[in-house]
Amino acid sequence: MTRLRLAIMISGRGSNMETLIKASQAPDFPAKPVLVLSNRPDAGGLHIAESYGVQAFAVDHKSFGKDRESFERALHEELTRARIDLIALAGFMRVLTPWFVTRWQGRLINIHPSLLPKYPGLNTHQLAIEAADAEGGCSVHWVNEEVDGGAIIDQARVPILADDTPGKLAERVLDQEHVLYPRALAKACAEIAAKA
Ligand code: GRF
Repeated sequence: MTRLRLAIMISGRGSNMETLIKASQAPDFPAKPVLVLSNRPDAGGLHIAESYGVQAFAVDHKSFGKDRESFERALHEELTRARIDLIALAGFMRVLTPWFVTRWQGRLINIHPSLLPKYPGLNTHQLAIEAADAEGGCSVHWVNEEVDGGAIIDQARVPILADDTPGKLAERVLDQEHVLYPRALAKACAEIAAKA
């Protein structure tokens, strides 16, 4: 089996990244993480990735000032150098411009902590509680030019409880993110293979 060469892009602690790396240790997992990129040099996830032997480093967006495209060109160069087939965004907190998204269209997925199309953007758990929703959850989707707007690959749901706070709900959803993301990544790989 040819495994797709996977890059994971993060900004912080990297718990979803770690779940993907662990899942990929199964011999029949269809992707192999070869590169972890962070836009923040202090992202804790970089050390976790290294502890699994995955090459990991930062491309610091701050050194590019307001020039988003130069930052993305630098990312693109690293991804191309590493011969990446598929990118999984995992808590990557920079909005990507059409310049980048069109180059990686069909090869770029993201995890978002809401049941899309509900609550794109930030503060998803607070918004779900304020709306008195019965359920929250998470979605993995293809990335297009609209923030959190691409086709959904898979979702997982959790109940919202009477005494929930955004923090408590976030924890319950995060547990499900860790189940969902490896499963959704495998589906994305199957879709890419079917088109090849
Ligand atoms: C997750 O909740 C993810 O859905 C969101 O940011 C968080 C990242 O957490 N986009 P981690 O860095 O994977 O632990």
